[in-house]
Amino acid sequence: MCGIVGYIGEHKALPVLLNGLSKLEYRGYDSAGIALLENNKLVVNKKKGRLKVLEDSMDVESYQSSIGIGHTRWATHGAPTENNAHPHTNQVNSIAVIHNGIIENYLKIKEFLKEVGQIEYKSETDTEVIAHLVNYFYEGDLMDAVYKAVDRMEGAYAISVICEDEPDKIVAVRKDSPLIVGLGENENYLASDIPALLKYTRKVHFIENDEFVLLTKEKIEIFDAFLQPVEREIFEVTWDAEAAEKEGYQHFTLKEIHEQPKSVKETLHRRLNSDEIINLEGVDFSDEMIKNFDKIYIVACGTAYHAGLIGKYVIEKFANIPVSVEVASEFRYGQTFVDEKTLFIAVSQSGETLDTLQSLREAKRKGATILSIVNVVGSSVARDSHGVLYTWAGPEIGVASTKAYTSQALVFYLLALKFALVHKTMEVEEVKTMISALNEMPEHIEKILEKSHDVQLFADSQFNNESVFFMGRGVDLYSAYEASLKFKEISYINSFAIAAGELKHGTIALIEEGTLVIAIATQQHLYDKMLSNIVEVKARGAHVVAVAMEGDNEILKTADEVIFIPKTLEALAPLLSVIPMQLFAYYVSVARGNDVDKPRNLAKSVTVE
Ligand code: G6P
Repeated sequence: MCGIVGYIGEHKALPVLLNGLSKLEYRGYDSAGIALLENNKLVVNKKKGRLKVLEDSMDVESYQSSIGIGHTRWATHGAPTENNAHPHTNQVNSIAVIHNGIIENYLKIKEFLKEVGQIEYKSETDTEVIAHLVNYFYEGDLMDAVYKAVDRMEGAYAISVICEDEPDKIVAVRKDSPLIVGLGENENYLASDIPALLKYTRKVHFIENDEFVLLTKEKIEIFDAFLQPVEREIFEVTWDAEAAEKEGYQHFTLKEIHEQPKSVKETLHRRLNSDEIINLEGVDFSDEMIKNFDKIYIVACGTAYHAGLIGKYVIEKFANIPVSVEVASEFRYGQTFVDEKTLFIAVSQSGETLDTLQSLREAKRKGATILSIVNVVGSSVARDSHGVLYTWAGPEIGVASTKAYTSQALVFYLLALKFALVHKTMEVEEVKTMISALNEMPEHIEKILEKSHDVQLFADSQFNNESVFFMGRGVDLYSAYEASLKFKEISYINSFAIAAGELKHGTIALIEEGTLVIAIATQQHLYDKMLSNIVEVKARGAHVVAVAMEGDNEILKTADEVIFIPKTLEALAPLLSVIPMQLFAYYVSVARGNDVDKPRNLAKSVTVE
């Protein structure tokens, strides 16, 4: 994953690099490093740990260089150590390279380099070979050397290179890892993602696969895979820098949980016309086309996969079309039944998740129509799709996805209703009833958030658990999956989500006196069965906390504690039941002193397989 940033211009480069990296730390944060050209001499500084460690190790003001590159790392090849941190350099320290991605054939390249001369490697990374390879091809033209080096490389990469001998340029290239460049006045930038540049410019170019970029102070030139110049239109970023700031919240995660009334409203309003009819702007599929799909695959990773499960539930329920949902890393290599009549829906907050992207490309090759549900505008998944439904949740910085999830789920509700109208499985009036219930969601979420303190008190009493179980039936099971993922990723407590009816077939053996079981129980048609499952675990000593709809008095008699969510249509419950679960995970994480926004071992944008 990793974040990369670069600057060339007439100002000091270091503060720009550090600021840019601070906005990219969500991409990886186990080490950070920069390379500058101070009086045309390469200076590299890198440190294990957070960016702050690097920053504190330098007298920032004393560096005059107006060209530099910076990197924040999520370790793949080689442990998170100072030596393995980027930038990496050639033997004589005149060329510096930063890289996001994986060079799959790096051992082969090492073999090749061994034949042409002895190299002392300073790290265990795949990236270091790039520096030596560029050095090998370097004959006074950095672009030419990078071009020849890339020709030898297999894998995924966004690479940026500077060189002492050509102190007026940065060369960059991408394949399957994101790269954007930003345009300024007599200064130019590059980065993995927009937030890194927002303080300086809103004018960006998206760099496409296999494209090369040459940045100088004066201009940005883009070249295709054959080094032919490419014209690229400027993309104007419309959201502001504040959207990517904490605005007084202790953590981005909490801010983003609290933003959900707003993000859900935005997602809805962008997709509803004044007459409350669903508009799928960005998707040019005729009704005829929709009717012709005989298979739907939803493919995604992590939280987006859980939103996909909600998608399956609603499309099957409203439009009566069978749907398969698969995690992208399995879909890619599994037996699939994709053809011209398949609708393939990719779900991704970042739009850069490599497994999702490669699954999408595989499905496209087999003739499927590709629809994506994406948050980051202009991202790779969006650009590779036939139609895109943006979620409009705004930038999500916390590594654990919250507001993107509710917006993804909401888009599925709207899509399913649209399909229901096309397939005539629901009357217009029924659809309208659903839509007016969806319109109440922002207010309902607000009400849940107003009671955050109760969830915090509950979290404070539960943060020492060794494990937590989440259970549900029907669509509540999918909410339980997401609740459990959220919980484990930021609390570091072992948690497990299971179909309530399946518990008795093995997992119940783990229930003992005091085990915390969270039972999501919003589905009336499954209610009695769910109560029985609660009773079963209670009989084995579990402490059961139910998530149920207001007005459900029965549950008070069965569960030990109840977290109520506002009453809504049963089918829409997932949009609400997840909110207290996000808060629960958040407050347990805080109580345990964890780094909520940047949980250990994780990264927000996963551009490796
Ligand atoms: C990573 C993140 C998760 C996210 C998943 C998919 O694992 O830590 O929070 O759900 O990637 O990311 P995407 O950007 O494709 O939604």
